[in-house]
Amino acid sequence: MRRRSKPYNDYLNSVNDVMISPSIQKLENYDQHMGTSRLSHSISVSYKSYRLARLLGWDAKAVARAGLMHDMFYYNFREAGFTAREHCRIHPQIALNNARRNFAVSNLESDIIRAHMWLATNTRPRYKEAYLVTMVDKYCAVEEFFKGLFVKLHK
Ligand SMILES: [Fe+2]
Ligand SMILES: [Fe+2]
Repeated sequence: MRRRSKPYNDYLNSVNDVMISPSIQKLENYDQHMGTSRLSHSISVSYKSYRLARLLGWDAKAVARAGLMHDMFYYNFREAGFTAREHCRIHPQIALNNARRNFAVSNLESDIIRAHMWLATNTRPRYKEAYLVTMVDKYCAVEEFFKGLFVKLHK
């Protein structure tokens, strides 16, 4: 069996209880960006943010956990009748409510979830870790969009 790297093992130890929770696993049933599931997107945001936070000596565990929870909502915004603008504004609070219902969420983790749509909304982060996650979220969204577009165009 291939040995996993230390950062990867440390990451799994930091998020294990969140990762295996049915409330997170069911995000696999929702599409996020161009064929990427909400679970894949959340893991991608969580792990990339974790690696960067670890490199910077910031609170990598909080970043990893909140990254997994940041899009904890269970609807497709078009089917739910929201405009894209309304969805941008409301889903961080919905995700935070769902996160608090399922896990013990710290102030830092709450801020990461609450402010992750900053720039699309006026909700500014309070912690440096929240700035990191909102930027990684945007990076992942763009990456997933173009990957999905590429697959679509080459079908
Ligand atoms: Fe989001
Ligand atoms: Fe996201």
